[in-house]
Amino acid sequence: MTHFISIADCTVSELEHLLDVAAKLKKQLRSTGRNDPILAGKTLAMIFEKPSLRTHASFSVAMTQLGGAGMIFRSDEVGLERREPAKDVARVLSSMCDGIMARVFEHEKILNLAKWATVPVINGLTDYNHPCQAMTDLMTMREKLGDLKGRTLAYVGDGNNMARSLSIACGKLGVRFVLASPAGYELPSDDIDRIMAGNPQMEFQTTNVPADAVREADVIYTDTWVSMGQEAEKERRTRDFAGFAVNEALLTAAPKHVIVMHCLPAYRGLEISDAVMEGPQSVIFDQAENRLHFQKGLLAVLLGKM
Ligand code: CP
Ligand code: NVA
Repeated sequence: MTHFISIADCTVSELEHLLDVAAKLKKQLRSTGRNDPILAGKTLAMIFEKPSLRTHASFSVAMTQLGGAGMIFRSDEVGLERREPAKDVARVLSSMCDGIMARVFEHEKILNLAKWATVPVINGLTDYNHPCQAMTDLMTMREKLGDLKGRTLAYVGDGNNMARSLSIACGKLGVRFVLASPAGYELPSDDIDRIMAGNPQMEFQTTNVPADAVREADVIYTDTWVSMGQEAEKERRTRDFAGFAVNEALLTAAPKHVIVMHCLPAYRGLEISDAVMEGPQSVIFDQAENRLHFQKGLLAVLLGKM
């Protein structure tokens, strides 16, 4: 693995290796209170065009705990493709840093960074996908459910960047993926075709009825209806997604053992109710913590050649 841009670029054994290294480093931190400084002297450049809590915190803390450092840039400071082309930014940062993590609007920008960088480039979310979050989610599912093969994840909500990455991750790791979205908010059919072509054995179902989606679910997953950059559409989207909230009523349609996940940040009372988020089936805060552990595994593999 050179870069981490999309889960579709990775083999199943590379993904399993990432999960194994992440689990090992998590265990080491839990049992000894520290990690070996395998990234001593190394620096990760972090560019954010959009807000972040988890991605910023997890990459920064992961670098610190592995003995290195994270360096953050505000988007207006770098001006990717505005102040300076991505191909110049990539080469300059490659000459000083050991890795580049970027959260950008247009997916094209992360592809350009990866094309020109001579150090690993990590996708910290684009309008198109969010691979770090999706792999963290599979790590969390593996901890909570054990073997993932044959499990069912029901994603209730927007056919967005999160749904796209999660469906690919599920396909690669043998999890059945059921997507329930309102009409007009499904994943585009060419995306589904591409995902299926990459994983011909995967089970991928779509529906416009949330209760049907969760009927056999081991996991119910949701994400905001209003992704970063869509704030002006909040009113319309809130109207269009009526009936797609993950709430107590929806949980009654699912098996009793179902767990609930959300990548956060959440609009409580819209896509997820307060009671479900705080309820016994929610693993949302363990999932958020795992951003740290998965990021560490990813950095150890890409920057530390683990
Ligand atoms: N889930 C996630 O990526 O959170 P942030 O936007 O806070 O980084
Ligand atoms: N779909 C959301 C994910 C946030 C982590 C967004 O892009 O804002």
